[in-house]
Amino acid sequence: MIPVILAGGKGERFWPLSRRQRPKQFLCLDGTGQSLLQATADRLLDVAGGWDGLWVITAAHLAEGVKEQLPNLPPENLLVEVEGRDTAPAVAWATLEVARRYGEEAVLGFFPADHWIGSLEAFYQTLQAAEELATSQQAIATLSITPTYASTGYGYIEQGEKVGLFNNCACYKVNRFTEKPDLATAETFVASGQYGWNGGMFIFPARVMLAELHTHAPELIEALETHGPACYPSLPKLSIDYALMEKTDKAYVVPISFSWDDLGDWNAIDRLLKNGGPNVELCKHVGLDTKDALLYSSNDDDLVVTIGLEDTVVVRDGRVTLIVKKERTQDIKKVLKLLQSDP
Ligand code: GDD
Ligand code: MG
Repeated sequence: MIPVILAGGKGERFWPLSRRQRPKQFLCLDGTGQSLLQATADRLLDVAGGWDGLWVITAAHLAEGVKEQLPNLPPENLLVEVEGRDTAPAVAWATLEVARRYGEEAVLGFFPADHWIGSLEAFYQTLQAAEELATSQQAIATLSITPTYASTGYGYIEQGEKVGLFNNCACYKVNRFTEKPDLATAETFVASGQYGWNGGMFIFPARVMLAELHTHAPELIEALETHGPACYPSLPKLSIDYALMEKTDKAYVVPISFSWDDLGDWNAIDRLLKNGGPNVELCKHVGLDTKDALLYSSNDDDLVVTIGLEDTVVVRDGRVTLIVKKERTQDIKKVLKLLQSDP
């Protein structure tokens, strides 16, 4: 499989740590010393058979950062988008480039750069299953996670009929794919027991993806085939989930057995630290009557003192401090719109 890391997103909900030039994937959020991008690349090196087989696609203003963080990545494996247009153009262009180099039978795997994976062994087993599934069915394989709450930040996959065991993993047809439903819909999905969260990882032979794009997103793929990446500014901003996954009938799913998290906001870091993540202190802290607070500072010398604080996130970065109730961390995006400039 040729793994391609999607590394062009913003990750605004990690502000003030994430900034335009230093988005979430460049940050080390869990105290391990590795950024999310570096951890993703490390995880995929085995699958890629070394650096020569690993690809990254990112936006122009982040290209230098990617090169610094992944100095071993061959320059010809770094695809630079003029500007980010979300994941549909990224998947389409990278698939065209990989097909050009390795042929249309090559199997690609797309991976977000913002995931935490609990067990590498189970991860590799599932990827092998997904590759066998995608090749044998000439299909797009996805991974799904058993939902633990009615999240509105994920896609939902309704599992259909079982197609068999691949690499010892049960695999299913996808009945329906629904990207980021509203809360009421998410609640009915979770209550039904028939849905999994979409893991955001897609595995497929290049030929299948190109054919599906021609059927469901013809303007996008034709523009890229005709004009190459120069057409980016005229492309719609659209994720692959809306552009293709909600429409295709070629989607199959492997439910995963390893623990997984999309590190989407500060609460995800909190979950990670509580559920067996690295045992690190993210900030020097003295607390009196302080309960369930998450404290982070980008400067090791900072000391944060709290008294009578509960369920709160405190983040210090340079001259900016953010203090937010845990239940309101999604609103960081709103506050960013209020700020005139990125301080
Ligand atoms: N190259 C490139 N260009 N990468 C991008 C762009 C872009 O314009 N926009 C986003 N990305 C990257 C992000 O950096 C991230 O690694 C990945 O694509 C996914 O984007 P997110 O913005 O994190 O997506 P999401 O988390 O809201 O939703 C997706 O992932 C969920 C699981 O983590 C969807 O696939 C959901 O259905 C899924 O549940
Ligand atoms: Mg994400």
